[in-house]
Amino acid sequence: MKGLILSGGKGTRLRPLTHSLPKQLVSVANKPIIYYVVENLLEAGIEDIGVIIAPETGEEIKRSLLEGGFQRVKFTFILQEEPLGLAHAVKTASRFLGDEDFVMYLGDNLIGSGIKDFVEEFRRTAPSALILLKEVENPHLFGVAELGEGGRILRLVEKPRVPPSNLALVGVYLFSPEIHRAIDRIKPSWRGELEITDAIQELINMGLEVRAHILQRWWLDTGKKDDMLEANRVVLDQLQETILLGDVDENSSIKGRVVVEEGARIIGSKIRGPAVIGKNTVVENSFIGPYTSIGKGCSIRNSCVEYSVILPETEILDVERMEESLVGRRASIRKGSEVNRALKVMIGDDSSLEI
Ligand code: DAU
Repeated sequence: MKGLILSGGKGTRLRPLTHSLPKQLVSVANKPIIYYVVENLLEAGIEDIGVIIAPETGEEIKRSLLEGGFQRVKFTFILQEEPLGLAHAVKTASRFLGDEDFVMYLGDNLIGSGIKDFVEEFRRTAPSALILLKEVENPHLFGVAELGEGGRILRLVEKPRVPPSNLALVGVYLFSPEIHRAIDRIKPSWRGELEITDAIQELINMGLEVRAHILQRWWLDTGKKDDMLEANRVVLDQLQETILLGDVDENSSIKGRVVVEEGARIIGSKIRGPAVIGKNTVVENSFIGPYTSIGKGCSIRNSCVEYSVILPETEILDVERMEESLVGRRASIRKGSEVNRALKVMIGDDSSLEI
């Protein structure tokens, strides 16, 4: 069985961050989202992985994956010239996929479990497709499935105005090669995309078996800032223990589960976990509150930061209180005048904010 990770597309919802950083490379608990995807595929025994990339962001995704230490994986990078839909991405990968079963996994989705059981169920029951569903409160934002007897799917619709159920398609799908025939039979949707949802519906129309597996644990479609912060919260909550690889001086205190990565220095500061402090980051005379991930090479001085994701090489200086914030790489935030309010910001890479 092969794996196909979709990391093309434009990622408009996380702008400005995604002007310069592909959504799949945004970090959750200091690890790019796409790494969680690769880890889940590997854990299910899938080592032959195709990665759909876009012309604008492909090189960076490629570099990041090749530097990710995934020695066992054989990556094949497949360029999709334009984001013409998830089924179009499968079409683009048809040479790589050949005649094999495959797992298609959206590169910006995080789920709270592995996919091993899901892959085993597909092998055991051998349907034409097995798709992962999750009960959600806002089904109109997703592909939605209507279930019949014994886990069979009756109908699927992409982002329906009146959803037939509250079961959304999570971005993980298992396909037999029959999906290629179905894709050849569908037309672009109202949004001009070849929808994988329509292709799966076509499998049903062709009289083939499409089954569902309902995810019991959490799923986060990391599309927007609040989703990202929530994903970071959930992943940090799973930290098991405190790991101090960097330096913590005697005037600092660490409470709760905290990871201080190599070369990081904590000077006269308080860290309340769950939190992660990245490689070579300096935290001085500051408070880092729960559910915060500070990327590598950052400098946090005389500041309080909590419930936030700070990407690498960013500087935060004299900021009395920052929370619920997502800050891009190499940003600089410093206090300017006497303003004493909590900050809520979302600024992109290379931004500079004076307060
Ligand atoms: O997140 C789950 C949802 O993902 C499902 O419920 C929907 O049924 C499914 O259509 C999809 O909807 P989105 O509108 O959220 O998909 P998005 O355009 O965000 O693309 C998902 C991923 O696939 C993203 O990592 C980019 C990549 N992609 C997207 C397109 C359109 C490609 O690689 N190529 C493409 O052409």
